[in-house]
Amino acid sequence: MKDKVVIITGAARGLGQKYCIEFAKAGAHIVAADIASCNETEKLVKNVGGECLNLELDVTDFDSCLNLASKTLEKFNKIDVLVNNAALYGTLKSSRFEDIESDQWDKAMNVNVKGVWNCCRAVVPSMRTQKSGSIINIASLAAIYGMPYAADYASSKAAVLGLTRVIAREVGKDGIRVNSVAPSMVRTDSAAEFLGEKADRAFDVIAKGQILQKTLEVDDIYGTILYLAGNQSKFVTGQTLMVDGGSVLL
Ligand SMILES: NC(=O)c1ccc[n+]([C@@H]2O[C@H](COP(=O)([O-])OP(=O)(O)OC[C@H]3O[C@@H](n4cnc5c(N)ncnc54)[C@H](O)[C@@H]3O)[C@@H](O)[C@H]2O)c1
Repeated sequence: MKDKVVIITGAARGLGQKYCIEFAKAGAHIVAADIASCNETEKLVKNVGGECLNLELDVTDFDSCLNLASKTLEKFNKIDVLVNNAALYGTLKSSRFEDIESDQWDKAMNVNVKGVWNCCRAVVPSMRTQKSGSIINIASLAAIYGMPYAADYASSKAAVLGLTRVIAREVGKDGIRVNSVAPSMVRTDSAAEFLGEKADRAFDVIAKGQILQKTLEVDDIYGTILYLAGNQSKFVTGQTLMVDGGSVLL
């Protein structure tokens, strides 16, 4: 990742923040973008010796995504990697599919699907010009497993898999790769928020359903993201990599 320019959306906390730190440790220049403040992330990236452009971003607003691309190009002259990590998750109220509020459904689709589409269409022109790039879209096991009581979230993440495959086919000839990563439940603030008081029990049940009977932690995912971002995965595109301890086997 030495001197690669890596944009990470949803970088204010949780997994996005972790990816920023790990990409910086690997030598990349970081663009940390979120609708919330990335000041803490910027500090953590600088603590490990990295360079960080801290940008406010609303992925649902295409102009905001264009601003992300142009500010990145202004500072670093190129975009090598985009990690589409921003999503609504913990704040989505869990309920039976027929009880989900229409407004919540629309918000989930707007951020989790349109947001990915917006960021991809904002950065692809510059990747096309440089004839290279790697886009990693964060999906979820929820899409493949069919997570109950989360039809909005699971459907939005299933759409991310479809979008990944389509864009991968359309941009491959320009040297751009597009892949998805689908983690199972990870112990983050957002997951705890989503699961509420049942969190510990839920993590236990999930772990018991995996081949590797352990709860997925924040430290267990970034290696897969770094792999997809870099040259070691240069012949991998359009794929979904499960990081789920062997919960579903594709
Ligand atoms: N934690 C898990 O169990 C888990 C499992 C599978 C997949 N994922 C996925 O991993 C990613 C990160 O998860 P997390 O647990 O760190 O979640 P999180 O809620 O902590 O982080 C999501 C980030 O996205 C940002 N965001 C929300 N709306 C935005 C918008 N309109 N524009 C820009 N940024 C916006 C939030 O401010 C937040 O910082 C998400 O895509 C999530 O769906 C998480």
